[in-house]
Amino acid sequence: MVARFSLLIPIFQLFMIVSGSFDSKFLHTDVFEELEMCKHAGYHFRISEITTFSLIDCGRRCLKDGDCRRFMYDKETKQCAMYECGENCITDGDVNRKICFRLLSVCTEVNCTRCPIGYYGDQCQHIIQDCSDGYQKSVTPQNTLLSFIQPSLNGAILEVICIFTYGGLTHITHRDARCKETDFNKTWNEYSTGFGNSHGNYWLGLENIFNILQSHNRFKLSVQIIYDGHASLGSYYHFNISSAHDNYSISLGEFSNHAQGGPVNSLTNGTFSINGRPFSTYDRDFSNNDCPVRFNSGWWYLDDPVCSRANVNGRRPAIGVPFEETLHWQDDLGKGTEIDAINLRIRRD
Ligand SMILES: *[C@@H]1O[C@H](CO)[C@@H](O)[C@H](O)[C@H]1NC(C)=O
Ligand SMILES: *[C@@H]1O[C@H](CO)[C@@H](O)[C@H](O)[C@H]1NC(C)=O
Ligand SMILES: *[C@@H]1O[C@H](CO)[C@@H](O)[C@H](O)[C@H]1NC(C)=O
Ligand SMILES: *[C@@H]1O[C@H](CO)[C@@H](O)[C@H](O)[C@H]1NC(C)=O
Ligand SMILES: *[C@@H]1O[C@H](CO)[C@@H](O)[C@H](O)[C@H]1NC(C)=O
Repeated sequence: MVARFSLLIPIFQLFMIVSGSFDSKFLHTDVFEELEMCKHAGYHFRISEITTFSLIDCGRRCLKDGDCRRFMYDKETKQCAMYECGENCITDGDVNRKICFRLLSVCTEVNCTRCPIGYYGDQCQHIIQDCSDGYQKSVTPQNTLLSFIQPSLNGAILEVICIFTYGGLTHITHRDARCKETDFNKTWNEYSTGFGNSHGNYWLGLENIFNILQSHNRFKLSVQIIYDGHASLGSYYHFNISSAHDNYSISLGEFSNHAQGGPVNSLTNGTFSINGRPFSTYDRDFSNNDCPVRFNSGWWYLDDPVCSRANVNGRRPAIGVPFEETLHWQDDLGKGTEIDAINLRIRRD
């Protein structure tokens, strides 16, 4: 930490002295180490990577490119990678060699022409509540991007993966076994507020999900499963959760698996339906079967030894990790098949 900081100071001073207005346009953010495999998850949105003269030159190029909202500069190779969205940078190489900045806004005297994704208005003064909100107001590019959202008025601003097509989908959880392992064995409070990060694995938080669900009369829960190199989709209509006071009980409507080969209905099929179940964590367990400990995750577990036919918040499959604990979606699909990723997304319907 100390070594990293002392390396940064001379660059910062140079940046401030030479750059003039640059420091008012960019925010210095973090660089995280991530696995190379994770890049193929497709949420890194690089526009271009070129060799530049300096950090300031890299920033100048980002300002000139109408789509650039973040850049990562390699102090050794002078490589300048520009991105369309996002707060922080990731690299599979030496974190200390890289420096990350994200754009605050590009504005003329009249108005702003480039806001961070999710912000809108003449002065970038507004922010979308969720990804459907951005889609419906047409204030976001029609793309899959990292976006800032604010689920409740004056509440926390969060960064999430947004799909700004098909009505706008907000990732409420993003699980990718190809990224660095994130611990999903968390407490009630952590599942309530959310954890993880938008460039790897995350859980948006029950309170944030609840607040988004308050903004419209009907939501759909979409399930995407990626395994053996292909993705399949299913959805539940009328997704809702109750308040914290009510232990965030889940309700799910009819299931549809759009195409042949789509996922089976693991959540509401027959006696194993989780409909009406409260959320459970190891420190607040309504399952009566130790499910959060056995599955190593929080979920709307059944009051049954089966616990759940899916483990969306499970661990990366690995030798020695019991099947129960791993990412899976119904036994017969998960067994012997390495699930690469499971994503849950919600959409105004
Ligand atoms: C900014 O102002 C210009 C000139 O008044 C206008 O043409 C343009 O549409 C405005 N852009 C936005 C994003 O409001
Ligand atoms: C999950 O967390 C609890 C509490 O910290 C701990 O007792 C338990 O061993 C953890 N489970 C695993 C599989 O790490
Ligand atoms: C979700 O349930 C809450 C009660 O817990 C209710 O106030 C709200 O209208 C419901 N929302 C939807 C979208 O059905
Ligand atoms: C929520 O959980 C508390 C215990 O933590 C319990 O007293 C209460 O009855 C539960 N509410 C519902 C609606 O299940
Ligand atoms: C529900 O489960 C039964 C028995 O496992 C299965 O035959 C059926 O296809 C499932 N239904 C759906 C919609 O997945």
